[in-house]
Amino acid sequence: MRNGSSTFETRPLGRTGLRVLPLGVGTNKWGRADPAAVLETYRTVVGAGPCLVDTAEVYGSERAVGRCLSTDRGRAVVASKFAPFPGRTSPRRLMKALDASLARLGLETIDLYYLHFPLPLIDLRVFADGLAEAVKSGKARAVGVCNFNAERMRRIADHLAKSGAPLAANQVNYSLSRRTPETNGVLDACRELDVALVAYTPLASGRLTRPGDAKGSGALKALLADVAGAHGASISQVALNWLMARDAHVIPIPGATKPRHAEDNLAALAWRLSEAEFDAIDQASAPWKR
Ligand SMILES: NC(=O)c1ccc[n+]([C@@H]2O[C@H](COP(=O)([O-])OP(=O)(O)OC[C@H]3O[C@@H](n4cnc5c(N)ncnc54)[C@H](OP(=O)(O)O)[C@@H]3O)[C@@H](O)[C@H]2O)c1
Repeated sequence: MRNGSSTFETRPLGRTGLRVLPLGVGTNKWGRADPAAVLETYRTVVGAGPCLVDTAEVYGSERAVGRCLSTDRGRAVVASKFAPFPGRTSPRRLMKALDASLARLGLETIDLYYLHFPLPLIDLRVFADGLAEAVKSGKARAVGVCNFNAERMRRIADHLAKSGAPLAANQVNYSLSRRTPETNGVLDACRELDVALVAYTPLASGRLTRPGDAKGSGALKALLADVAGAHGASISQVALNWLMARDAHVIPIPGATKPRHAEDNLAALAWRLSEAEFDAIDQASAPWKR
């Protein structure tokens, strides 16, 4: 898996030309966690390569991420999100929010800027125009969406393509205990349009890290523990490795506020599931495809 030096292989972020580690880090708790532990967690992930560091204006963690970046920009690939609340539905509001995020992060350009969720009653073109403007202005290298279904994703990808800003990613809830992106058309659309599927809550908010605590329990948990044991790895690594093996477009972003958790998750990049292990986990987690 390593490419000869101390770095891991990377995956493309859609058609943007940007490449990232197949595993990012979620920072939604960084604003309220121990700053020393957060900095060490950050150093751990960026030390491994171009790691997607995922924040959002609504997490209250952009300043914490900014403090980490100011100590060492490293190879962090920074992503934040615009929340299109009612009343914030113009390209101008999006650009204003982006400026505020950049100020909190201490950056002039963000690597990836997402629309945090769709606002169904508002024409998608308004947000496509805002995202395209973010790229044109040089304030964002790439743009994406979160929580978009396949149909909306195709529509905004189309609008963005016309503006010369390809849709880089759709960030959705995806884990072994929530496999709906495989059945609701989102994974298929990501493959077809060559868009990264950034998987949030990939450890089911921590429930998939503990034996006897994962949703659905029983067979799946026992299997994850067995596979982990066979590789001398953690259950978290098995859950993350399964997602990464599912499709080359999938990039999980497990949240971590503790360096040992980030280190443990990164260790998933150093080994792979056998085909038989992948298939067995596929079957045991099939009930959560719904
Ligand atoms: N776009 C959206 O709408 C959206 C929604 C939700 C989340 N997100 C993003 O997705 C990220 C990930 O989601 P999440 O943080 O909610 O859930 P998650 O990644 O499924 O789980 C995070 C939890 O697992 C623990 N953990 C991580 N690695 C571990 C390990 N190796 N062993 C044991 N425990 C471990 C963390 O503990 P510690 O904190 O103690 O290290 C934390 O409690 C968020 O941080 C956020 O950036 C996006």
